[in-house]
Amino acid sequence: MTRRKTVAANWKMNTLLPEAMNLAGEILEKTKSRSDVEKIIFPPFPFVKEVAGMFSDQSGFAVGAQNCSQHEKGAFTGEVSAPMLKSVGAAYVIIGHSERRQQFREEGSELYSKVQQALKAGLKVIYCIGENLNERKNELQYKRVEEQLLELFGKLNKEEADQIILAYEPVWAIGTGETATPAQAQDMHAFIRSRVAQWLGTVKTEKMIVLYGGSCNAKNARDLFACADVDGGLIGGASLNAEEFSVIVNSF
Ligand code: PGA
Repeated sequence: MTRRKTVAANWKMNTLLPEAMNLAGEILEKTKSRSDVEKIIFPPFPFVKEVAGMFSDQSGFAVGAQNCSQHEKGAFTGEVSAPMLKSVGAAYVIIGHSERRQQFREEGSELYSKVQQALKAGLKVIYCIGENLNERKNELQYKRVEEQLLELFGKLNKEEADQIILAYEPVWAIGTGETATPAQAQDMHAFIRSRVAQWLGTVKTEKMIVLYGGSCNAKNARDLFACADVDGGLIGGASLNAEEFSVIVNSF
């Protein structure tokens, strides 16, 4: 089964508008020759429209937002809805990132509402899962990841599940410079696929894109992407440098 190779750039709360436009332009120039790899750029909210505009007529690129509201509209001061994001050119949204789970206390039911909002608005979702260091040390990583999968796939129907990309991001590897070894990544990705098959069946699950995230960079991407069940990466820090990001894209 061939799955689309995918590399996503999560810029987090970095860049100002001019910098974001420059970075997007450089990424476009340096990676457009790899039309076989889907590149998905996640700028901060205020720059989604501009950055989406830069990629709108380019194949092999898409733009998304790093979060969305669990509500569709109304009196929710400071929130940004999925339909708003769609209306400015976003095609994707990241939901369940560990920084949202930890620092903003986002949990299963709220995350599920966000996924529902995103799908209803016609956005695809990158859904993040992964254990923390304590869980890994106590060999609870499978239990944790299974719980997180259940919070989503226990409720989604099969058509909805087609709109989901999973990102396995061990929390201990995010922004720490510590990366899962290719063996650890492959092991967990295979586990994820076997579990998801319980809800979706093997045929659907074989098509599901599962990305690795957590200090993935120009040096380690090649070995990670060579793993049979790793379909690409969700890149944080290393996506803020167009040259490094392009090396990652070229790691396939
Ligand atoms: P990192 O972030 O590559 O900086 O570790 C990955 C992520 O948080 O998506």
